[in-house]
Amino acid sequence: MNGDSREKVLELVSVSKVYGSGRTEIRAVDEVSFAVRAGEIVLIMGPSGSGKTTLLSLAGGLLTPTAGDVVIAGSVLGSLSRKDLSHLRLHRIGFVFQAFNLLAGLSALENVALVMNLAGRRDAGVERDSRRLLERLGLGERLDHVPADLSGGEKQRVAVARALANDPPLILADEPTGNLDSRSGREVMAMMTELAREREKAVVIVTHDNRIMGMADRVLWLEDGRLLEAEPPDEAAGRE
Ligand SMILES: Nc1ncnc2c1ncn2[C@@H]1O[C@H](COP(=O)(O)OP(=O)(O)O)[C@@H](O)[C@H]1O
Ligand SMILES: [Mg+2]
Repeated sequence: MNGDSREKVLELVSVSKVYGSGRTEIRAVDEVSFAVRAGEIVLIMGPSGSGKTTLLSLAGGLLTPTAGDVVIAGSVLGSLSRKDLSHLRLHRIGFVFQAFNLLAGLSALENVALVMNLAGRRDAGVERDSRRLLERLGLGERLDHVPADLSGGEKQRVAVARALANDPPLILADEPTGNLDSRSGREVMAMMTELAREREKAVVIVTHDNRIMGMADRVLWLEDGRLLEAEPPDEAAGRE
């Protein structure tokens, strides 16, 4: 409605993804368009199989669209070389996955420091910044713990710290509370959204957890790979 002057960090323009071909063809994402601006937290909700993970993978350059364009911080992903695409992913996107995806042999601190190292930072500030980020996420006492010695909620907070480590403008999270009990899920979400707002990140969270709805600015509903025009009435209560 109003002219929002904040920078568009992520834009999808009529993006489709088809798996397979002929009789086995599945149109997992079907002409989806939307934009997410700096400082905005958007949820993508929809039933299992509606294309949420595919959509998020397209948005993060992990999958190539069959048609349409994904634009991140002004770069059209389809026009980038492999090398430039992986550079963009490392510097411009922080990913959080349902299964945490931490490196088992590394401590919490090392998991965060590693992605800073990968981005070319080797200075003493790496350890300090990793430590500060983990402390902000309530993990000051867990810096030297390996993932096996952390609870699910703690592992996901390390993953959030890792996603923020290179200060990317875009955070993408696929079912980040999917493996957590409701209390630690809420905790992780509250910390992630607070840090993201403070740092003006554009955030896209895939979830089918209704309890997260109140933490977002906007909810996009996906069904059979298409965005719905309006929110389903029974679940839309309480929003705006
Ligand atoms: N790699 C793949 N190959 C073929 N079909 C897939 C693949 N990944 C997902 N699909 C299909 O695409 C549709 C959307 O899947 P997905 O994006 O995982 O949905 P969601 O995350 O909402 O559960 C489903 O019908 C699923 O079976
Ligand atoms: Mg999924």
